[in-house]
Amino acid sequence: MRTLVLSLVVVFSLTELMQDTSGSPRRYRRCQEGQSYTVPRGIEPGSPIQVVAKAVTSANQQTYVRKDVSVLSQAEIDALRKGVEVMKARDAKDKTSWLYQANIHGTTDDPLLEGWAQCQHGSYFFFSWHRMYLYYFERILRKASGDPNLALPYWNWSLPSQRALPAIFRMPADPDTNSLFVAERNQSTGNQDGINDGAELPGPATSYAAAFARTNFFSSPGSGLSFGGQQIPGPEHQIRPHGKLESQPHDILHGLIGGDGWMGDPDFAARDPIFWLHHANIDRLWKRWLDQGGRQNPLTDKVWMTTKFSFFDEDGNKVELAGKDILDTVAQLGYRYDDDPPPNIVALIGHQNPAREVAVNKPKILFRLEKKGELGLQQSTVPVPLSKELLTNVRSAISEKKTLILAVDDIRFEKNPGVYYEVYLNLPEKTEPDPHSIFHIGNLGFFSRKAHAPKGHKVAFDITQAVQALQKANAWNDKELKVSFVMRGLIPPKGKRALHKEGKRAEFSGISLSVQ
Ligand code: C2O
Repeated sequence: MRTLVLSLVVVFSLTELMQDTSGSPRRYRRCQEGQSYTVPRGIEPGSPIQVVAKAVTSANQQTYVRKDVSVLSQAEIDALRKGVEVMKARDAKDKTSWLYQANIHGTTDDPLLEGWAQCQHGSYFFFSWHRMYLYYFERILRKASGDPNLALPYWNWSLPSQRALPAIFRMPADPDTNSLFVAERNQSTGNQDGINDGAELPGPATSYAAAFARTNFFSSPGSGLSFGGQQIPGPEHQIRPHGKLESQPHDILHGLIGGDGWMGDPDFAARDPIFWLHHANIDRLWKRWLDQGGRQNPLTDKVWMTTKFSFFDEDGNKVELAGKDILDTVAQLGYRYDDDPPPNIVALIGHQNPAREVAVNKPKILFRLEKKGELGLQQSTVPVPLSKELLTNVRSAISEKKTLILAVDDIRFEKNPGVYYEVYLNLPEKTEPDPHSIFHIGNLGFFSRKAHAPKGHKVAFDITQAVQALQKANAWNDKELKVSFVMRGLIPPKGKRALHKEGKRAEFSGISLSVQ
């Protein structure tokens, strides 16, 4: 039985939080429909909130260290393989089996068994739900492996040296001798030279710079312009638009790794062992984002803090966790990453760069171009006419320091094409598309549940900076905006060539401009 010997009781009182070091109280505005509101750094006015963060691990338990997969010892690799193998051998109805655990994320199986199809995508539960999911999975895997020290490794795909799928997941390429190998991965370079053959993720697709530039954890309903996704009133399996880190690198890498195989589809993704290392890295990036200072979790959001999600532990018992239970991975969950800065350093950064309020408004649609577009192999461009009125709105949005958003609406696809699209604004003809140029506004990926989505996927980009840069560079046109799409895929192994077929990968119903 688990002993709960550690319990953190954090009581935030309004008076404490109203006094910052400068002595001046902070301004607060309540959240109202259709109005701007401020995410307070401490607490919502009204009543003090008592946050009771209970530790789910016992204090005398060790802190497990989640390591970069590239530094694992042979013994650690063996334990990982063994754990996966043992879980895979269990009966699918066993709550600690590989399949049962994968189905908690998503499944097309019918009927749904207890706890299945719960993953939280497109909202501010994205990070918290996946942290909980990984936590219990890791405990199950540890017990199955027989190694009391096993911790989930992470795949740090952003490092140039780690852009290929970790070798232990693809060699030997035999599911009978290597439990980490699955054939259901991206072959989309056209021949057999896919991710299982050492093809690499393109560097720009692994960048989290755009997500890290966001200081707000969550955004207003309907907006993805935050690190962690939009605020919603309660759990939603799959909604859109996705938050910034979820869009990239998370979604884009799912497509590049999985293609039309497992990792490309939320209903099958967690069947691939690499899913868990991909998500350990996403979870790690959540911590790295906070470490920068000036950022904080939604500590005063009651829904985020207290909504409970259920999972199963290593003995198959039902267990529950809420946001408030997973804020501190060391004190509450008993794990850390091998590159976590020591807590004193984190405190120091937070002290020098305290979390600030971030104003977020509800997005308001300015214009919607209803025009079907196709995403194929060749570069394509959609002209968006700018009426006088729209131009005025765009100009005033910029002068009022608001955010301009361009969204690609209702994106539909049969199967994940295993590629992504760079999106450009006013890219001059005969110019080599360059994601480091002022014309690039972001990347569009495919990771959503196509079969059940009432509306297609939607991807939104903050174009405020781009519009200003284009104006400065005389690349702006008062009459129209040109939106271009450039397909990008895996980089094939040395000496091989990507052979992408012609033809449609996806379509969308239009492009819209909003102000926020
Ligand atoms: Cu819930 Cu990476 O997926």
